[in-house]
Amino acid sequence: MRNDNVVAVSSREYDFSQHEFVRIQKLIYEYAGISLSSTKQNMVYSRLARRLRAHGLTSFNEYLSLLEKGDEAEWEAFANSLTTNLTAFFREAHHFPILEQHVLQSWSHRKHGENNVPVLHQYALKRNNQKMLHLWCSAASTGEEAYSMAMAMVKVFKTFTPPVHILATDLDTNVLAKARLGVYSMDRLEKLPEDMLKKFFLKGKGPNAGSARVRQELLDMVTFRQLNLLDNSWPIRGPFEAIFCRNVMIYFDKSTQYKILNKFSPLLTGDGLLFTGHSENLQHASNLFKLRAKTVYELANRQRV
Ligand SMILES: C[S@@+](CC[C@H](N)C(=O)[O-])C[C@H]1O[C@@H](n2cnc3c(N)ncnc32)[C@H](O)[C@@H]1O
Repeated sequence: MRNDNVVAVSSREYDFSQHEFVRIQKLIYEYAGISLSSTKQNMVYSRLARRLRAHGLTSFNEYLSLLEKGDEAEWEAFANSLTTNLTAFFREAHHFPILEQHVLQSWSHRKHGENNVPVLHQYALKRNNQKMLHLWCSAASTGEEAYSMAMAMVKVFKTFTPPVHILATDLDTNVLAKARLGVYSMDRLEKLPEDMLKKFFLKGKGPNAGSARVRQELLDMVTFRQLNLLDNSWPIRGPFEAIFCRNVMIYFDKSTQYKILNKFSPLLTGDGLLFTGHSENLQHASNLFKLRAKTVYELANRQRV
């Protein structure tokens, strides 16, 4: 009988022990909150073996010592190597009409006074004089999600310069660099209808054929910044009309999720919405958020200050 495990292990360039895998699990959990299951050993090996090669190291033990000495650049590369960045334009498409409706309503209340809408949140009081609505895409990966939000805002306000700013953050600096460019290969765009492609993208020519760049107005609407959701303090100011935190909490355990959710709640406007991924649910944080629609949440206690 063929034993794939033995073949895989013996053909490895570096020894990789269970003990070293456990050390890596601990380090990435402490740094980024990511809980790596033991089924991820091969994935971890192949992604980090590149880092060993880049440094000319001969063992995982040497690599882990380098990290444990606190080499900042390597910590960044380590985290970048272990994130999963799968995303797509208009992923979980049912969220976008909800976002559009919500933003339209918030804008109309802002414009026509909030007489019918109780101002329930301290931040909502502050923002009344502001001319912009703010959205946060908190695990933005390569940018498709934030640009989808921006396209939705163009649709709502019927202008390429809607009164909306989108903050888009991620832990991974590699994906953020790609997101800032806003250039995507045509196969990433094939599910978008032709009219949206024409409206929002500029097709590359010559050496850039086969890719397209999002329009400058969309680039201008979104600011990409690095932010580790696990950090104790986030250098950002609310309030946000909506926070997208989709398909990242699945990598965190419940207590890490709760800490993050607890920090989201004061950053939302009183009637703000939190959008989560399809396999994420917030039952364990029902004191903070309650379900409004499928994987869309509002503050459980809208009078929180
Ligand atoms: C699977 S992608 C989801 C992208 C997008 N939200 C979507 O639903 O299509 C998860 C993203 O979360 C980011 N991430 C993982 N841990 C993080 C952390 N501690 N802080 C911020 N972002 C993190 C990863 O770098 C990755 O880009």
